[in-house]
Amino acid sequence: MDKEFKLKTHWKTQITQVHCGIDFALSEKLPALLDEEERKVVIITDTHVEKLYHTQMEHLDVKIFSFPAGEASKTRETKSMLEDHLLSHNFGRDSLIIGLGGGVVGDVTGFLAANYCRGIAHIQIPTSLIAMVDASIGGKTAVNTAYGKNMIGAFYPPEAVWIDGAFLATLPQKQKKSGIVEMIKAGLIESPSLFDSMKENVDKWETHDLEFIMDRIYESVTIKRDIVEDDPEEEKGSRRILNFGHTFGHALEMLEDYQIDHGEAVAIGILVASFISNKMGLLPKEAFDKVREIFQLYQIPLKISMQHSLDDWMSALALDKKALKGTPRLVLLEEIGRVAPFNGNFCSEVEFPLLEEAITWIYEQFCHSPK
Ligand SMILES: NC(=O)c1ccc[n+]([C@@H]2O[C@H](COP(=O)([O-])OP(=O)(O)OC[C@H]3O[C@@H](n4cnc5c(N)ncnc54)[C@H](O)[C@@H]3O)[C@@H](O)[C@H]2O)c1
Repeated sequence: MDKEFKLKTHWKTQITQVHCGIDFALSEKLPALLDEEERKVVIITDTHVEKLYHTQMEHLDVKIFSFPAGEASKTRETKSMLEDHLLSHNFGRDSLIIGLGGGVVGDVTGFLAANYCRGIAHIQIPTSLIAMVDASIGGKTAVNTAYGKNMIGAFYPPEAVWIDGAFLATLPQKQKKSGIVEMIKAGLIESPSLFDSMKENVDKWETHDLEFIMDRIYESVTIKRDIVEDDPEEEKGSRRILNFGHTFGHALEMLEDYQIDHGEAVAIGILVASFISNKMGLLPKEAFDKVREIFQLYQIPLKISMQHSLDDWMSALALDKKALKGTPRLVLLEEIGRVAPFNGNFCSEVEFPLLEEAITWIYEQFCHSPK
């Protein structure tokens, strides 16, 4: 398993080299890069990943900066702190940032690279499954603010992404499941065969069959690559399909005060979008049942803590980036592997009574606490 492809982006001169394999990033690619590289290299990671992989890097002659692990660090403050660190260590325009970590490290280091000295090169080494199949691909970088997630950022693709399955050995099960949800989403929007393969091979994840896992990662990444190449900055609308399940998913994360896991919220979001798709006569019942089944097979915890009011739901849904003048629009499915095109918008408004019915369905299915 050693695959490589090029991802075209809107940056005329910027092609992202994506390399997929097992046990190569820290042992081969990084030492080789440090030997040959004329630019000044810095590795930026989080404290957790640094601790886990420190011994694999300690012999290398490279600066390593880290910041506290977790979503709470995805802020302008962290970015400023890193900028000051780089400046005080004389990193200039001829520098290369390597982001080693999960989606938080990738988003922060990508945004840092976009701004530092008006833009310097970066390479991503994703270490979580979400970062491998989603966050490291497609050039979106961002930090959160008190006003919302990913509100400040830039499209700034890395020059390379090294997807190394060896990192999955230390990844906790909960984080793995978040990535699995995104892979299931990739199958649902674009590839019935990826969906079926995920559905029929749950055991391969349990036995940590890396050959199988890396093939499915590669498939998920190529699906995202094709979608991003077609609409790099979400101008045409086709990139919206990657957002399937995220309208309700993000709203739920906000309503649950980010105490719910991202993957679990997106799984519920996928189920609600599939429920609505079925109710609108788009998605056949058998396909909807398959979507329900796959999350049961992977034992994704599907639970919300309380019944949030309808007004709170509507306010949260209105914040979605696809909303039009405050009216939420959803990506909906026609079949497993096919999103409803809605005249090239790839999302549609949903009538209020159906939204209300969907929210009641969420309570019935996933909430066991009284209002
Ligand atoms: N830019 C994009 O297109 C995009 C897409 C999807 C998600 N995201 C962002 O990604 C973030 C979520 O990603 P995440 O789940 O990776 O979050 P994360 O970076 O916070 O990682 C989750 C936890 O896993 C740990 N971890 C990472 N790799 C590990 C490994 N190999 N072994 C053990 N522990 C490891 C981290 O230290 C952290 O504690 C969110 O901020 C989300 O907005 C961005």
